[in-house]
Amino acid sequence: MSNDIPFEVLTELEENFKYLHQHPETALKEFKTTAFIKDYLENKCKVELLDLGLDTGSLAIIRGDSNYGSVGFRADIDALPLEEQTTLDYKSKNEGCMHACGHDAHTAILLAFARLLSLDNPFKGNVIFLFQPAEEAEHGGQRVVDAGLFSKVKIDRFFALHVTPELNVGQIAISAGPFSANVDRFSYEIKGIGTHASTPYKGLNPIKALELLSNRLSSLVAQNIPCGDKALISLTHVSSGSTWNIIPDFAYAEGTVRSFSASARSTIIEKMTQLKTVLEAEGYKVEFNFIKGCPATNNDPKLSELIKEEATKLGLTVVSQRANLGGEDFSCFQEHVPGAMFNLGTGIGPSLHNGKFKVDPDALKIGLNVYNSILKRLSRV
Ligand code: NI
Repeated sequence: MSNDIPFEVLTELEENFKYLHQHPETALKEFKTTAFIKDYLENKCKVELLDLGLDTGSLAIIRGDSNYGSVGFRADIDALPLEEQTTLDYKSKNEGCMHACGHDAHTAILLAFARLLSLDNPFKGNVIFLFQPAEEAEHGGQRVVDAGLFSKVKIDRFFALHVTPELNVGQIAISAGPFSANVDRFSYEIKGIGTHASTPYKGLNPIKALELLSNRLSSLVAQNIPCGDKALISLTHVSSGSTWNIIPDFAYAEGTVRSFSASARSTIIEKMTQLKTVLEAEGYKVEFNFIKGCPATNNDPKLSELIKEEATKLGLTVVSQRANLGGEDFSCFQEHVPGAMFNLGTGIGPSLHNGKFKVDPDALKIGLNVYNSILKRLSRV
């Protein structure tokens, strides 16, 4: 399958992957990773580097005739604060830090793609390479958008991949529509009236408000969201009080809301805001905060079909993408341009974000081949 990829590109692909795996850096601290990426892009790929406008990450372009359009590819580059527990001979050299989400593979594949195109580029338009920082934390995708990505480069169609240990090497997953959720955060700050534990009638116990809140939140989705539209509210952190004989005057509750559709998201916000009113009717003073985070992904139907067809032609097994209530900030770009992201099977094994997670290096060239086939197909349109 990879007969048309030059040997040196494949060799460097695996070398780069292993180097990146050994040198992981967490969100917004990807300084050495960024230097490595820029060095390879400049010296091996001879592509033009642009200013991404952030301290880490990188943006590059192969300029063509704009009349043929612009295609973008994105890799995320950050690792996780997690101790690696594999026995790989190229395991992490940075204590407490590991590429446990495969972003080393994403980065190595995109670097190899830039290298491949420097040798043989079928596309007459512009090709954009985005190496995005801080996908795991710190809202990297949104930072890239806010730093003016789309005023620096025009992108008509945007592609990305994410490794998965739920598929074998040789399998990919792609579906139109959302596969990851709106990831939002909420908190309630509840002020009651503190008093002696023996005289609750003289105060207003905020722990009673937490009880009410917890009850209402646990049934809010079932009572308000149609069953086909998946959503979830998880109350994850509550605190109040300090000892056994004082009724406290304050309670705090926070958690996350996950949803796929804009309508489910807005209904949940509306109902959670009403809950504040319910608590206020009981006499509490309540601050409700809802922070919208990364939106749900939204794979463009045509681009998803294109990936499916090209992967099938390559002899890969294509399955449907399994939707999950996690987050993926490629969605920040899909809010602006049509895009599609597929899952690349990297060998069934321990899950992402697990210290024993591993990518089978044989999967790397498959990711590269899919990218190359996408671009070849767009060259013929
Ligand atoms: Ni990831």
